[in-house]
Amino acid sequence: MEKSFNFIGSGKLLFGRGKFSEISTLTELSNCLLLCGHSFLKTHQYKIMDNLVKFQFIISGEPDPESVDRITSEVKNKITAVIAIGGGSVLDAGKAVAAMCCAEGSVEDYLEGVGTLVATGKTLPVIAVPTTAGTGSEATKNAVICRRGKSGYKKSLRHDNYIPPFIIMDPELYINCPPPIMSSCGMDAFCQLLESYISTKATDFTDLLAWNGLTIFIEYFLNLCKGISKNTETMGKIAFAAYLSGITLANAGLGTVHGIAGPMGGFFDIPHGTACGTLLPEVLKKTIDRLYSENPGEHLNKLNKLGTYIINHHKTKAQKKPAYAVYDLINKWLVELEIPGLSQFGITESDGEKIALASGNKNNPIQFSTEEIREIINRSL
Ligand SMILES: [Fe+2]
Repeated sequence: MEKSFNFIGSGKLLFGRGKFSEISTLTELSNCLLLCGHSFLKTHQYKIMDNLVKFQFIISGEPDPESVDRITSEVKNKITAVIAIGGGSVLDAGKAVAAMCCAEGSVEDYLEGVGTLVATGKTLPVIAVPTTAGTGSEATKNAVICRRGKSGYKKSLRHDNYIPPFIIMDPELYINCPPPIMSSCGMDAFCQLLESYISTKATDFTDLLAWNGLTIFIEYFLNLCKGISKNTETMGKIAFAAYLSGITLANAGLGTVHGIAGPMGGFFDIPHGTACGTLLPEVLKKTIDRLYSENPGEHLNKLNKLGTYIINHHKTKAQKKPAYAVYDLINKWLVELEIPGLSQFGITESDGEKIALASGNKNNPIQFSTEEIREIINRSL
């Protein structure tokens, strides 16, 4: 082991088909708040919740400060735990409400880069039940809160204690996710795995997990989304890889793609996974180009190893610079899964500078100038 590191894992995980039925064995659950999406109300799993739930709210779209504050004010001091069942937005809403039930003021006061107060880490227990394989929020220590518009933002409420202590991953709850959402969410998870794999903060531990998740995606993602191997076994593999992405990002951080996608998602109504997937090829290509010319070493070796895995797995022609096979694969996914470019969401060349100025560039093995980030955005339109 070359580097010393700290590592923070996830909560207790129940994983597998049918595991949702074991929810009441996780911990003593009564007087819970249930947050979920509309689609969950139609499932047979919803009926199990009857005697656990005291309050219930539907979450649609990314949580804004007002919705978190409104729910918190209705349930504060009346619930013992939060059960969040849905995509990343529902899970983030659940984590934020659980924390704000143990804090004073508005959630906005505690958001990084927005508020002036520091998150205390006090929280009610959260049972995270993801139904999309994307953000990995079930394993992360932050809740993303979004405000849209001219002074829009996407900022985090963050503390190590906000990692949900209980997780249920049941592939039956993911399998009916509409294909475009599955594709978009998956691009987010893949991006998180790749960015944490080549992060300047990566460790032997995160590398192990990120490599595992990346190879699962390379083998199964396209066929799952295209319906060629749409079954709970394959779904479980991709759900597991997305969960790994949450652990790796919580420990190794993310890179330039997320640094751009964050502010972009505050200014424009674009699904987070679509923003990440669309930006990823250009960020990656520029990173590989610059690593070859300026800093061939550890990070380039990792990308070449991943590219070689792709070449061998897909039995494609060997390349002198195998790292570019990663770039080729992502472009192939974007085309085959018909993931739209940024311009489909009203983003134009004239928005590039504003987004670039607000973008972050942490943890990427290459640091880009604002001008280079503007170029990346323009090439991703
Ligand atoms: Fe993400």
